[in-house]
Amino acid sequence: MKISVVGCGYLGAVHAAAMAKLGHEVVGVDVDENKIALLAKGEPPFYEPGLPELLTESMASGRLTFTTDMADAADAKVHFVCVGTPQKRGEYAADMRYVEGSVESLIPHLRSDSLVVGKSTVPVGTAGRLSERIAEAVPGALLAWNPEFLREGFAVQDTLTPDRLVYGLPTVGAETAKALLDEVYADILALDTPLIVADYPTAELVKAAANAFLATKISFINAMAEVCEASGGDVTKLADAIGYDNRIGRRFLNAGLGFGGGCLPKDIRAFMARAGELGASDALGFLKEIDAINMRRRVRMVDLAREVCGGSIIGRRVAVLGCTFKPDSDDTRDSPALNVAAQMKLQGASVVVHDPQGMDNARRAWPDLEFAPSAADAARGAEVVMLLTEWREYRDLDPTEFARHVAAPRMLDGRNALDAEKWRAAGWTYRALGRP
Ligand code: UDX
Repeated sequence: MKISVVGCGYLGAVHAAAMAKLGHEVVGVDVDENKIALLAKGEPPFYEPGLPELLTESMASGRLTFTTDMADAADAKVHFVCVGTPQKRGEYAADMRYVEGSVESLIPHLRSDSLVVGKSTVPVGTAGRLSERIAEAVPGALLAWNPEFLREGFAVQDTLTPDRLVYGLPTVGAETAKALLDEVYADILALDTPLIVADYPTAELVKAAANAFLATKISFINAMAEVCEASGGDVTKLADAIGYDNRIGRRFLNAGLGFGGGCLPKDIRAFMARAGELGASDALGFLKEIDAINMRRRVRMVDLAREVCGGSIIGRRVAVLGCTFKPDSDDTRDSPALNVAAQMKLQGASVVVHDPQGMDNARRAWPDLEFAPSAADAARGAEVVMLLTEWREYRDLDPTEFARHVAAPRMLDGRNALDAEKWRAAGWTYRALGRP
């Protein structure tokens, strides 16, 4: 099937390459000429394991092309909308201008048998509104909402073998829209992937609810970390113990610096803003607390550094390991790690940062920070080392060897990623969030 993918950021670039892999003829469209030029060479404009190979394979098949010209999407039957919905400046609500703009630019190229499929994370009610606009402009053209749940670092796997597919279908034309989506996803459905067929608001809410639940799990365990800090308990053992209860489950109970990135923080805020507009703000009042717990962890991390430095970080040499919002990504958007590094710097510490993939993005956001080409270089002469993103190469550090670089062996583990006993045995002062 001929498919267009509008928006070639994280979601769109991966989706376009994956749809071509499934055998469709795909054109990826984006207004950003630099992005399209890179993608047209088979180079992703961001770091994502497995994506360069998938792009190369799909482009070699001749089924994947990229363009800045929306007219090239005109002969596609299905058009996926994969543009961003960032947080509005100074507000909680999502900025819908890219979603609305892409639908408007698609409209002149739609036919009466076209299907537009929204994948972006949007406030509930968006699909209903957009479908009226499409129906009025191009009678017969349909809209479906098909949220995406991919995680950075696992984007290829999550797109080709998702946990489930969700279709939000229109009241009129539901069968036609479903048949087209079934055709697009035939190979994925053949893997017995669960399929949930719903109306627009339910499909939109599934995504918001899933992200809210994940954020809640993380902040719940971080709240327990606060109580552990006050009482002398160990939150990692607590998480293991409650995680054995299948109803709770151990995943997403890793206490530490909390959640960041381009999705969870802005999505829970947009969800609260939308609930407020709907007169349901009481229902999501708890998410304000989830957000607050999350932000407090960053402050606690800086306080911990102050504590081990004897009350002041002014002028102290600090090595920061990791500045992306999570490992296996170069994304520093709303990164707890980068936020802590910047706070340390603003409060007078002399900070040197290392990250395997995120330093270019971090440098653009915080040009005043100093960066080092390796963890050992960042650690040279440091009085405190802060592990803020749990990259494999940091987990694998040898504490005895690493001690040779620093001025004082003090390790602050912001992700509970290291073996405390091993580091202490090698002579380090080891401190972590939520552990004695
Ligand atoms: C998330 C959702 O998982 C995904 O389904 C949705 O489509 C987009 O948002 P992503 O932003 O890629 O994906 O990251 P995720 O792996 O969910 O991690 C989010 C943040 O939570 C990271 O900063 C991570 O470090 C943190 N986290 C995660 C924890 O602090 N503890 C955990 O136990 C798990």
